[in-house]
Amino acid sequence: MADQRPTNIVWHDGEITGDDRAKVLGHRGCTLWLTGLSGSGKSTIGVALENALIGRGVLAYRLDGDNVRHGLNANLGFSADDREENIRRVGEVAKLFTDAGVITISSFISPYQRDRDRVRKIHEDAGLIFLEVFIDTPIEVCESRDPKGLYKKARAGEIKGFTGIDDPYEQPANPEVHLKTDQSTVEKSAQDLIDALIEYSVLRGE
Ligand code: ADX
Repeated sequence: MADQRPTNIVWHDGEITGDDRAKVLGHRGCTLWLTGLSGSGKSTIGVALENALIGRGVLAYRLDGDNVRHGLNANLGFSADDREENIRRVGEVAKLFTDAGVITISSFISPYQRDRDRVRKIHEDAGLIFLEVFIDTPIEVCESRDPKGLYKKARAGEIKGFTGIDDPYEQPANPEVHLKTDQSTVEKSAQDLIDALIEYSVLRGE
């Protein structure tokens, strides 16, 4: 990919504000950034949360690592550089969805704190809400779940650079929400995230 920077581009403002969109939707947008090991439960909790939100009439949408890597990021692998670019792109997409007023549920391993902090910064610079959610599941539990059989392959040396086995995962230093999935249920975790959306004034409590 050519590393080219565009020149002669000028930002063109619209006339619609976030408040205008919130009036249409009845709520503001927000990025919930779920980070954790493969098999930690990010996608499962994301699906449960999306169901619960849509059930309450709240517009929610999931961005999911395995899915996005089928399309937008199909040209990226799992080197540190490619993971950085993966998170940069989906961070920008999450920002756009959130700006549009959607509750955006992003499920990516996103193993590097620096990459997650960059996504936080582009949201905060734009006045958008970003909540980092640590899906904290011990690797032994992820490995025993092994929903895609990938830990088995990584242990057999068939996958190199697998997060948690022979590639790093940096735990969030200060996540807004910390979920321990081995001590909770999927439904309770989804409810904890709805409570966080109320606490951060994205949604109104009932
Ligand atoms: S990230 O590190 O760049 O954030 P992402 O969340 O998009 O990763 O994709 C992770 C998913 O890709 C895992 O859930 C797993 O299904 C698959 N995968 C394939 N190879 C690897 C690998 N080497 N490390 C981690 N996950 C991998």
